[in-house]
Amino acid sequence: MKQQIINVPRHVAVIMDGNGRWAKKRLMPRTFGHAAGMNAMIAMARKAKAMGITYLTVYALSTENLARPKEELEGLYSLIRKYFTKNVKDLYAEGAAVRVIGDITALPEDVQKLIKEGVENSPKDAQFFVILALNYGARAEIVRMVNAAISRGERISEEQASALLDTADMPDPDLIIRTGGEIRLSNFLLWQAAYAELYFTDVLFPDFDEKEFEKAIDDYSRRNRRFGKV
Ligand code: FPP
Repeated sequence: MKQQIINVPRHVAVIMDGNGRWAKKRLMPRTFGHAAGMNAMIAMARKAKAMGITYLTVYALSTENLARPKEELEGLYSLIRKYFTKNVKDLYAEGAAVRVIGDITALPEDVQKLIKEGVENSPKDAQFFVILALNYGARAEIVRMVNAAISRGERISEEQASALLDTADMPDPDLIIRTGGEIRLSNFLLWQAAYAELYFTDVLFPDFDEKEFEKAIDDYSRRNRRFGKV
């Protein structure tokens, strides 16, 4: 019988890299890779929920991605539209909620509206959360936090700083996964990653299937987290 993973992380965050290369290998446009990536993301969320993970944060659009060619960005916006009109309904039906981090005010207005509705219409008693990082950059998030603290006019603690970040009501990620072969964090959850375990794989995100996800969780579950202690 397959062994049960006991030490399951509460919050997993994923840098979904490699969609472009996956498409290129198939002589297809990059947007084709992003569409395949979105399918992989949906399957991953289902698997995460089934494994007992509570929060799944995905880097769907970085602040830097906004500088990509118009055609690619339009493709990504179309996927966001599809996700928030169609796919969120399946999430709701499973008692799951969607959340967003990042500055969405730079996105097209209709996309902003769909995102807000998607978040608001989420079940209030959700036991599982998909958090989409959209126009997200950790440094920009930290600067927003600092400015909010300054306008309060008083010194703040680490806990208060955490509560001023976009991730205010979520625990820090226990595990950050990056697909696609690069070994860096690329401005993703820099504050929140302080004690996260990191997992890197060469697998391109559209190929990062349930088995690969399970492998990452299994790897995490064997690690000895000491949080700076002995
Ligand atoms: C990085 O791959 C990935 C992205 C820039 C976008 C990730 C988005 C998805 C997986 C689907 C989006 C889901 C929603 C809801 C919008 P890359 O293009 O940098 O790949 P490369 O390194 O191979 O070029």
